Amino acid sequence: MDPLIDAALRTRLNARATFSKFQVGAAVEDENGRIHTGCNVENATYGLTICAERVAVFKAISEGAGKFRRVAIVADTETLTPPCGACRQILWEFCGDVEIVLANLQGKSETLQLGQLFPRAFDASFL
Ligand code: THU
Repeated sequence: MDPLIDAALRTRLNARATFSKFQVGAAVEDENGRIHTGCNVENATYGLTICAERVAVFKAISEGAGKFRRVAIVADTETLTPPCGACRQILWEFCGDVEIVLANLQGKSETLQLGQLFPRAFDASFL
């Protein structure tokens, strides 16, 4: 199995999905091949919930990673779960037009470019 999907699968089990019961795992591969993982962490005030993708990217940045190659996202859905709008913005800003690997627990997966999922993004180039 792709080690990036495997890392996201394993990290998904750490999700704190107390309210939605919807567990998500993410894994980001940096330019050195190092893998950084994240899971969703929910909060009783709901709005403070953070998605798996953002946890993974922010962890990676805090550990000194700068550039990224791929992001894997795993959830237990028949139709592969894509990143939410907020995560697309964060992924675009910090990872650029990277490969996004969507996968589920049945071994189904699909690879897309972030630019396909998030066309005409607003970013620092406009400022
Ligand atoms: N969630 C993620 O972590 N990533 C996604 O790509 C979609 C949604 C989380 C947020 C919340 O904890 C739960 O899934 C239900 O929306």
